[in-house]
Amino acid sequence: MKKVVIPVAGLGTRFLPATKAIPKEMITLVDKPLIQYVVAEAIRAGFTDIILVTHSSKGAIENHFDHNYELNKTLVEKNKLALLDIIDNILPGDANIISVRQPIALGLGHAVLCAAPIIGDDDFAVMLPDVILNEESCDLAKMVQAFQLNRKSQIMVEPVPQEETYKYGIVDIQGRELAPAESTEMVNMVEKPSVDKAPSNLSVTGRYILDNDILGILRTTPKGAGGEIQLTDAIDTLMKAQGAEAYRLEGKSYDCGDKLGYLQATYEFACQHPELGPSFTEWLATIAQET
Ligand code: G1P
Repeated sequence: MKKVVIPVAGLGTRFLPATKAIPKEMITLVDKPLIQYVVAEAIRAGFTDIILVTHSSKGAIENHFDHNYELNKTLVEKNKLALLDIIDNILPGDANIISVRQPIALGLGHAVLCAAPIIGDDDFAVMLPDVILNEESCDLAKMVQAFQLNRKSQIMVEPVPQEETYKYGIVDIQGRELAPAESTEMVNMVEKPSVDKAPSNLSVTGRYILDNDILGILRTTPKGAGGEIQLTDAIDTLMKAQGAEAYRLEGKSYDCGDKLGYLQATYEFACQHPELGPSFTEWLATIAQET
């Protein structure tokens, strides 16, 4: 499996005013834009064709993964070769960034459908870039393996507090226990249910491995929650036709489309950063002593 769809057309209203003039995916987490973590995760899992479903205001994302001739030339002239190496390795040579536009904001399901001409007949992954996983996570690769084992679409889930279920897609696995890194059959999937109607507290965590049949289903999926064409509704239909599984996240997720989630990720990624981590944690210790 080589193709992954990353919808980046959303305007990031949850993160205003920061996102007024820059794409939310370009906000910096420690020293890299958020989208770079998501693309790195895809590449770690073996994906090479990164399909961005984008918007006219998001050109900075494509620029970030493109070659910048002037910058490279300047870094060579100034002998800043370590920096040059960092810039040159943002994207490995065998990876492709491909972009398509989502001309109207009709929802996540519609965004995935905009990539259909590039996906063709292949099975593919979808990654939502608001969700950042810890950099050691192998979850996406494990989802691909699980899909290849029995050809059941894999939906990443993790438990959330029951009172927050209204913010997410929620899956029903008939009350079974689901250990981290394991998959189990789903019987129902609902987008943003009211708390009293949520079939469980297992929320969809922004990573999907999908059978190609989802594209045909999306073409006839009516508008759902929020008046948008929901990927969750199409997966629910796919699941009823051919089965689909919930895969439980083993790593750790951060909702970086949300200011608090972003701050939490900043703290943890800074502490773990190979160069900045030791001095940052030392500084934190002195702050803790002062308070
Ligand atoms: C989307 C999905 C939802 C999922 C969530 C994860 O919702 O539709 O099923 O749980 O991402 O972040 P959004 O947050 O884009 O409204």
